[in-house]
Amino acid sequence: MDIGIDQIGFYTPNKFVDMVDLANARNQDPNKFLIGIGQDRMAVADKTQDAVAMGINATAEYLDQVDLEQLGLLIFATESGIDQSKSASLFVKEALNLPANIRTFEIKEACFALTAALQVARDYVRAHPHHSAMIIGSDIARYGLNTAGEVTQGAGAISMLIKESPAIIALEDGHASYSENINDFWRPNGSPVAMVDGHYSRDVYLDFFKETFKEYLAQTKLTVSDFAGICYHLPYTKMGFKAHRIAIQGQDEETAKRLSDNFQLSAKYSRQVGNIYTASLYMSILSLLENGDLEAGDRIGFFSYGSGAMAEFFSGKVVDGYQRRLRPGLHKRMLQERTRLGVGQYEDIFTEGLENLPENVEFESDANHGTWFLAGQEGYVRKYQQK
Ligand code: HMG
Repeated sequence: MDIGIDQIGFYTPNKFVDMVDLANARNQDPNKFLIGIGQDRMAVADKTQDAVAMGINATAEYLDQVDLEQLGLLIFATESGIDQSKSASLFVKEALNLPANIRTFEIKEACFALTAALQVARDYVRAHPHHSAMIIGSDIARYGLNTAGEVTQGAGAISMLIKESPAIIALEDGHASYSENINDFWRPNGSPVAMVDGHYSRDVYLDFFKETFKEYLAQTKLTVSDFAGICYHLPYTKMGFKAHRIAIQGQDEETAKRLSDNFQLSAKYSRQVGNIYTASLYMSILSLLENGDLEAGDRIGFFSYGSGAMAEFFSGKVVDGYQRRLRPGLHKRMLQERTRLGVGQYEDIFTEGLENLPENVEFESDANHGTWFLAGQEGYVRKYQQK
C-alpha cells in the first residue's frame, strides 16, 4: 500500500526584508548575504502571525478537499510554541472545525519535528488504512538584531495531508536516522531568541548528512544516480548547497547536472522566505514540485536535520498527475504581493515580537481578507480570528 503526501498547503506572512537592504544596514557586502549565505529575502512575522495562525492558514488552503470523516490524527510540529503545556494543534482544530474524535498533539525536536510527525503519520495510516493524518510545521526563526544568524531568520508554515494512495509523493520504505546530544543550536526556556554556535552547527549538519546518506544508500542498495533530486533542510540555501556538493562528488555529468538543477529549483522558495525551521525541508520539496518538471515515478531524496541534533534521510516517488494537486499560482502570488519593509520597520516588528503578551490585549491585522490571525489575548488565552 502506498502512503504519502496527498496535499501540501503553504503560508508565509505578508512582509519581508530585502537582503541587500539588510546587508547595507549591517555594513556587510550584499554578496555575502546573496551568494555567501544564498538568501534574497527574509519573511517577517508581525505579532498577529504566530506559529498557530500561520499553521491555520497553511491548512485552510486545502481543507475543503479533505474528507473529514477519514481524518484520525493531527500533529503540530514547532519550536515556536505558544504554550508550555497545551498543544498548538487544539487551536487549529477549533479554528478549522476539525472533528472532535481525532488524536491530536504537539511535537518537538528543532527542525526535525515535522519529519517526526510525518513518520508517525505514516505509521498511523499503515495501522489504520482508510484513515488520514494532518501534519503541520510552523515556525518563526529568531536569532536577534545584529547577530550573525540574523540573515538566516524567516517565518512560515507547511501543512500536509498524509494518506494511502497519495496524490503527490508516495514514501518509500526505509530510512537512515542518526542522533547525538550536542549543543549547536538551542532555545532555553524564557529566551525568545535561539542560542547558536553557527560554524559548529554547519559542520554537524554536514557530518549528519554524510552519515545518513551513506547509510541509506547501503541499506536500500540505491546509487546517487537513482535520484531525480534531493531536497534538504534549508536553514539558508548555501547550507543545503554544501550538502548537495558532497552528494554529487564523483558522479557522472548527467547525474550531477540533474541533481544540481533540481537543487536550485528546490531552493527557490527558501531564497525568498528564509528559515522556517520544522517546515523548511517541506518548503524545499514544494518548491521543487511547483517550479520543476518532474515525471511520475521520479525518486526524490529527503534530508531532514534538527539541531540538538537529529537527522534522517528517506525518499519518495512522485505520483502521476501530482501537478493537479498543487497551487503554484497561489504561492507565487503570496510571495510577490508581500510588503517590503525598511530595516527600521523590520527592527520595530522584530523587537515587539520578543515581548510577552499582556494578560488582555487586542490586535488588528493588515493581512489579506480571509487570513487567520492572532486577534489578541484574554486572561492569557490566545484568540484567533479570520479576517
Ligand atoms: P558568518 O560567520 O557571519 O558567515 O555566519 P561566514 O563568515 O561563515 O560566511 C558565510 C559565507 O559567506 C562563507 O561561505 C563566506 O566565504 C561567504 P562558505 O565558506 O560557507 O561557503 N562570504 C561571501 N561570499 C560572497 N561575497 C562576499 C562574502 N563574504 C563572505 N563578499 C552562519 C554564517 C551561517 C554561521 C550564521 O548566519 C549563523 O549562525 N546562522 C544560524 C545557524 C544556522 O543556520 N546553521 C545551519 C546548520 S544548523 C540547522 O540547520 C538547524 C537550524 O535550522 C535550527 C533547527 O534545527 O531548529 C538552524
